[in-house]
Amino acid sequence: MHHTETKLPASCEKDLLDRFLKAEAMALWSVRAAQARDVPSGVLAFLRQHEEDEAEHLREFESRLGVISHRRERLPRVPSQWYALVIHLYGYETLGLEFAKLLVQVQPTLHAILDDEEVHVGFFEKEVLKLLAEGGTVAEKARESAAAWWRKLPLTVDRYLEGDSLEPYRSDLRRVILDAIQERFESIGLLASHREQ
Ligand SMILES: [Fe+2]
Repeated sequence: MHHTETKLPASCEKDLLDRFLKAEAMALWSVRAAQARDVPSGVLAFLRQHEEDEAEHLREFESRLGVISHRRERLPRVPSQWYALVIHLYGYETLGLEFAKLLVQVQPTLHAILDDEEVHVGFFEKEVLKLLAEGGTVAEKARESAAAWWRKLPLTVDRYLEGDSLEPYRSDLRRVILDAIQERFESIGLLASHREQ
């Protein structure tokens, strides 16, 4: 699959950072909330490290933007079943990764964030593959969760692409992000391979 790359100008940096800051805050809270759930052994240690990475990204964005994002008192609701929780975490990491790719286009010094996101996506992808390899109900439920998550994704992406500087690129970026995540989900057999939208 080939995408014509949308080259973003430096003027997009502030809006991208601002949107990514919100996405990372969401990722951080989800990862924090996930630690209270019943997760497979080995996952908890990764979630703790992961939480530190996201907190670090958040501080980096905050200092670049000169803002402090508000801290939530209550953690967001995350699914309690592992097959759904892992899809939730994996999905948002894949989205974070696509944002990180855009961000390094305008700010190459933030490449370490892209590297972290590759690690996060890789970790959850392996966990998803384990569930799919198990087969049966668990694999089926994971696929159902992924399909449900996928259906909500376009609205989420639109929210993340707000900002005046992104206006001329919005529809291209939306397509690039959705295609990248769809291809990833399809390539691991999480989403049935048919293009309908
Ligand atoms: Fe991440």
